[in-house]
Amino acid sequence: MPSNQVVLVTGASTGFGRLFTETLARKGYTVFATMRDPKGKNSKNSAEIDALAKKENLAIHVLDLDVTKDDSVDKAFKAVIDKAGRIDVVINNAGFPVVGLMETITVEQAQSQFDTNFFGCVRVNRAALPHMRKQKSGLLLHISSGAGRLVFPTFGLYSASKFALEAFSEAYNYELAGQGIQSVSIQPGAYQTAIFGNVVEGSDKARSETYGAANQILPKISEGLGKSAGNAQEVADAVLRVIETPAAQRKAHYRVSPQDIGVDAINDLCQKTQESLIQAFGLADDVKFVTAAAAKG
Ligand SMILES: NC(=O)c1ccc[n+]([C@@H]2O[C@H](COP(=O)([O-])OP(=O)(O)OC[C@H]3O[C@@H](n4cnc5c(N)ncnc54)[C@H](OP(=O)(O)O)[C@@H]3O)[C@@H](O)[C@H]2O)c1
Repeated sequence: MPSNQVVLVTGASTGFGRLFTETLARKGYTVFATMRDPKGKNSKNSAEIDALAKKENLAIHVLDLDVTKDDSVDKAFKAVIDKAGRIDVVINNAGFPVVGLMETITVEQAQSQFDTNFFGCVRVNRAALPHMRKQKSGLLLHISSGAGRLVFPTFGLYSASKFALEAFSEAYNYELAGQGIQSVSIQPGAYQTAIFGNVVEGSDKARSETYGAANQILPKISEGLGKSAGNAQEVADAVLRVIETPAAQRKAHYRVSPQDIGVDAINDLCQKTQESLIQAFGLADDVKFVTAAAAKG
C-alpha cells in the first residue's frame, strides 16, 4: 500500500495509538489521530501531537472520537471524508482492561469493557465500510491481544472482549474478501504503554472473600506482565509492515510479542482448521480476496 493513504486511529492520545500515528505520518500517511476530548482531558496529548506535526511537517489531524458513542464515531468519519475524501485504513486500537476475579466484576463493569473493546469496533467498522466499499479497497485493523487467544485467570473478562474481537475480525475478513476489503487482527504481548495505569479492577471486592490463595493471582500476573513488557515501538513497526504488505499476501492474524508463549502455534492451528471448515462447506471461492483490479477484469 503506497504512503499518502488516509488512516484513522482510535485511542491515539497515548500508547500504541500515539506511536501508530507518529510512525505512519513519518512514512507519508495522512493520519486522523482520534481521541476522547482533545480540547479537555486530552488537551496536553493533543497539543503535543499538533506540535510534532508542525515541527516535522506531518499530515496529522487530531479529531474527537469516543468509541462508545455512535454520534461521536459518525461525526469523526464525516470530518475525515469532508477533509480527505477517502479512508484507506482504520486502526481499532482504543481499549482498556477490566481485571480481577471474574466474580468481583459487576455487570456494569463487564458491559463497559465490551462497550469499548468490542462494540467500539462494531461502531467504527460500520462507519468506515460504506466509504471503503465505494473505493473497493480498505484495511480494517484490530488491536487485539495475546489475551485474544489465551486466558490468564483474573484477565478473563478482558480476554473475553479480545476473543470476541478475534471472531469479529475474522468473520469480517471472509465476508469482505469479495469486495477488496481486508480485516486483520494484531495480537500484541505485553508492552510498556499507559495501559498499566488504566487498569480497572473488579469493584465487588466482597465476592473475593472465599477465594483464598486465588487472591494472589492478579498481583502475580501483573508483576510478571510489568517485568516482561517490551518497547511499544515494536508494535507500531509491525503495524506499518502489515499496512505495507501487498493485500494478497496479508494474513488474518499477526502476533507481535517479546516472548513466544504459544500464540503463533494457536494461530497456525486455527488457520489450518478454518481452511478445512471453509473447504468442507464449499465456500473457498466465496471468501477469496479480490483486488479492485481483478474485479474490473
Ligand atoms: N500495552 C499492552 O501490553 C497491550 C497488549 C495487548 C493489547 N493491547 C491493546 O492495545 C490497545 C491500546 O492500548 P495501549 O497499551 O496503547 O494502552 P493506553 O496507552 O492506555 O491506550 C489506550 C487508549 O485507548 C483510549 N480509549 C479508552 N477508552 C476509549 C474510548 N471510549 N474512546 C476512545 N478512546 C478510548 C485511551 O484514551 P483516553 O486517553 O481517552 O483514556 C487511550 O488512548 C488496547 O486495545 C489494548 O487492549 C495492549
